[in-house]
Amino acid sequence: MSVSQSKKGDFAAVRQAIKALLHQPEYDDGSAGPVLVRLAWHSSGTYDINTDTGGSNGAGMRYEYEGGDPANAGLQHARVFLEPVKEAHPWITYSDLWTLAGAVAIEEAGGPSISWQGGRTDFVDDTKILKNKIAGRLPDATQGAGHLRKVFYRMGFNDQEIVALSGAHTLGRCHGDRSGFEGPWVNNPTRFSNQYFKLLSTLEWKPKTLPSGVKQFMYYDEDTETELMMLPTDMALLADPGFEPWVRRYGEDKDLFFRDFAKVFSKLMELGIERDAEGRITNTDNELGGYLS
Ligand code: HEM
Repeated sequence: MSVSQSKKGDFAAVRQAIKALLHQPEYDDGSAGPVLVRLAWHSSGTYDINTDTGGSNGAGMRYEYEGGDPANAGLQHARVFLEPVKEAHPWITYSDLWTLAGAVAIEEAGGPSISWQGGRTDFVDDTKILKNKIAGRLPDATQGAGHLRKVFYRMGFNDQEIVALSGAHTLGRCHGDRSGFEGPWVNNPTRFSNQYFKLLSTLEWKPKTLPSGVKQFMYYDEDTETELMMLPTDMALLADPGFEPWVRRYGEDKDLFFRDFAKVFSKLMELGIERDAEGRITNTDNELGGYLS
């Protein structure tokens, strides 16, 4: 059956196409959603507020220098899931498609609605990625609170926003062959909730060294016979006096978390993007200003 092509700028049609691919019974926990959220975040989280480089414009992960950053291991799965959408809606840029897919995946997992605007352009080659060295900018999960602040302050976030963003770890899991870490954070990793904060702040997490030598934290849930995990950086949120109050508040107040998460995820998707009063992107790579012309 041939897929009818949408008109340029018909983001509603693209949203529908993304929704239709989320259910993937053979993949991980049955959903493409979590890895799509990680793709959206990694495409935006390269932003450096001091040099105004990186961010979600460009879709630089299509090129080896950024795509081959070890932090991006496994994200080819997300890009492969989205390829049929790009084929059916060729007018959309990859940078818009990846960020929109993250927003749709969060909403469809039962999360808050995310305000999202289009108009990003894709790099036509890797010149900017090489010149600005867009690699090695994402957080390292083996580190502590100081590292998190260094990386997320560079993007322009504060402590509360760092904690809110980390709540995305209620979705998905770690894969030994991608990051070296293993397992899900929560029992129902395809449903967006504040469970990550509840578990982080109430369970007794024990250090565990995997056979590979990688150190993480574990809790064995006897009811579901599932081993849950936390990264060293997740535990750092609990140990740090600036982060910890937010971990507890979000664990106690799901509505507050949903409100704050929606705001901060939107902000993440907009890093490095400047818009005029009509929402048209003014710092694109070409003269078109995306699709809004
Ligand atoms: C997965 C680290 C922040 C969303 C992961 C994984 C690591 C990691 C090591 C496992 C990757 C794999 O093995 O497949 C970190 C660190 C962060 C951070 C150190 C610093 C705070 C975030 C943020 C978001 C996010 C801000 C989104 C807003 C996700 C999602 C997954 C994930 C959804 C699951 C992916 C899947 O199931 O394939 N993260 N992350 N993370 N991360 Fe983060």
